[in-house]
Amino acid sequence: MVVIRGATTIASDEKEEIRRAVKELLEQIENRNGLNRDEIVSVVFSSTSDIHSYYPAKAAREAGFSGCSLFSAAEPEIDGGLPLCIRAMLFVEKNLVPRHVYLRGAKVLRRDLTDILNIAIDGPAGSGKSTVAKRIAADLHILYLDTGAMYRACALKALEAGADTENEAELMDLFREMKLDIEYENGVQKTILDGKDVSEEIRMPKVSMAASVVSRHASVRMHMVEKQREIAGKMSCVLDGRDIGTYVLPDADFKFYLTASPEVRARRRYNEMVKKGLTVDFETLKKDIARRDEQDMNRAFAPLKQAEDAVLVDTSEMTIDEVVAFVENKMQEKI
Ligand code: DC
Repeated sequence: MVVIRGATTIASDEKEEIRRAVKELLEQIENRNGLNRDEIVSVVFSSTSDIHSYYPAKAAREAGFSGCSLFSAAEPEIDGGLPLCIRAMLFVEKNLVPRHVYLRGAKVLRRDLTDILNIAIDGPAGSGKSTVAKRIAADLHILYLDTGAMYRACALKALEAGADTENEAELMDLFREMKLDIEYENGVQKTILDGKDVSEEIRMPKVSMAASVVSRHASVRMHMVEKQREIAGKMSCVLDGRDIGTYVLPDADFKFYLTASPEVRARRRYNEMVKKGLTVDFETLKKDIARRDEQDMNRAFAPLKQAEDAVLVDTSEMTIDEVVAFVENKMQEKI
């Protein structure tokens, strides 16, 4: 006997919605596990206490699951629980490795059991995306992948080698030899270039600008995107960058595009650098950011732009806490 789990959410507590959701959930469990209906011995449903209009067991019988025993129960109210959620547990007479099925956002409940969750956060420099991405990743206990750090490492490599950052062929020759590793120490991303931790070095203004130039080249991007997709395909993560929602992961579960006025973005970067004890000129920094915006938005291949299905957040007048709360609420709304 094998147990398969599943869950889904409904838009409203209405009979037709419950019937539709239960039918969809059971059929998906059947399809994804290659089940014959007569292999299902029993199904136990539980629904959250905000569902009253119909018994999921009755909906299952009406959907044609009449040859097995069916049972529904109501769950007590749990603080912070997902609203309007129906769970199912199928007991199956078949020797298989179960594929649990979590639909319509219910996968947030059991990320450990379900498909991988990818969250894309794009936006220009200083929009707050990396701070927000780190916070979301920590809250969800998933990985944070800073894709900008990868382009920055390429740029550092090019600068150290004295390569021409405009010359795509020269760069690719250099990068083929390069060993770029992303490692995590206590949940913090470390960028390791040819065996050396360059996490701090890649934050220098000259590296920022060179990263924007280097990342214009299609072959350089393809090289990095391959690595990013490989990581995102293996585990749940929040990725921040310029092209995550549009190019790297067009099917990401959640997409956000963060922006802020150029003045605010430059001020944030300035404060960041001063805090690190670096001497920077505000006006120069502002000009550099504007140049980077221009370059990142106007390159031919995978430029910085908002994906059609991304949620736009103007963070100019928001605190980090407000942005994080907004993003997390939007995710809840979608599920
Ligand atoms: O996010 P950041 O400031 O660390 O990025 C540095 C540069 O790298 C940015 O100006 C453009 C490039 N980049 C990119 O083209 N695509 C990404 N996904 C991330 C960064």
